[in-house]
Amino acid sequence: MTPLKLPQIIYGTAWKEAATAKLVSEALTAGFLAIDTAYQKKHYREDFVGEALLGLESRGMKREDLFLQSKYTYREGQDHRLPYDPKSDFKTQVCASFANTLKNLHTDYLDSYLLHGPRYAEGLADSDWEVWAAMEELHRSGQARSIGVSNVNIGQLTELHEKSSLKPQMVQNRCYAVRGWDRQVREYCIRHKIVYQGFSLLTANPQVVADPRVGAIARRLKMTPQQSILRFATRIGILPLTGTTNPTHMKEDLDAMHLDLTADDIAAILAI
Ligand SMILES: NC(=O)c1ccc[n+]([C@@H]2O[C@H](COP(=O)([O-])OP(=O)(O)OC[C@H]3O[C@@H](n4cnc5c(N)ncnc54)[C@H](OP(=O)(O)O)[C@@H]3O)[C@@H](O)[C@H]2O)c1
Repeated sequence: MTPLKLPQIIYGTAWKEAATAKLVSEALTAGFLAIDTAYQKKHYREDFVGEALLGLESRGMKREDLFLQSKYTYREGQDHRLPYDPKSDFKTQVCASFANTLKNLHTDYLDSYLLHGPRYAEGLADSDWEVWAAMEELHRSGQARSIGVSNVNIGQLTELHEKSSLKPQMVQNRCYAVRGWDRQVREYCIRHKIVYQGFSLLTANPQVVADPRVGAIARRLKMTPQQSILRFATRIGILPLTGTTNPTHMKEDLDAMHLDLTADDIAAILAI
């Protein structure tokens, strides 16, 4: 198996419902090489992501060209359309959810598999440890090339990192500028070589996108404020997600990865 290749930016598939397959196809056409989804029908149509992936060969692409990521979601985060029997133990739930994800995505492995979020807002529950142990097994078997956790606070991440036998390799969190772009968790990830994925970079920070200082940087570099924020994110250690539904924005978000922001630009945006 080829080594895990990290993308520069990930295309997110939440809230796209019936348009999911069309939008994922457009994202692949635009040049995205990484897709984030979940078996959580309330917010994601992973089965429709899979529909778009059936067209890979006709694009001259192979499964190995892509980074595919999905998630195990607790019963509490799901509606009635479950990928597992909720009465089964957590290990069985994770295995069933993962198997259904592989089926949906027409693949026999994932590049990354995440716990969608710890059970409770604070601390790690026994069920989190059972889920993590099952995810470790998926990693050891080679079916999940990396494992990680989403919606996690610094206490939970520290505990997971310190007490697990297989350390989390990915974190996926919402990034608010007012919280230093999730500074504590982000910096912990940098120190422990965990890939930090950030979402809601644009939607959670409209005041930063609209700030005149970002506008001035964008004008100087002939890009949009949204592109400046996505590129800024990568410069402070964030692997960004974008869920744009607009093909022009898809191109812009990809192009943003090559823009030259100076250290002063980074400091200026951090200070907003
Ligand atoms: N783990 C979790 O619990 C969790 C939670 C939320 C999200 N996620 C993941 O993260 C992904 C992204 O979510 P998100 O909240 O960051 O984004 P999002 O809700 O998909 O929204 C992105 C927004 O930014 C706009 N946008 C993107 N690029 C732009 C550009 N170049 N110019 C102008 N506007 C632009 C989009 O508008 P247009 O559509 O008009 O371009 C859209 O309004 C999701 O799809 C999902 O995969 C995970």
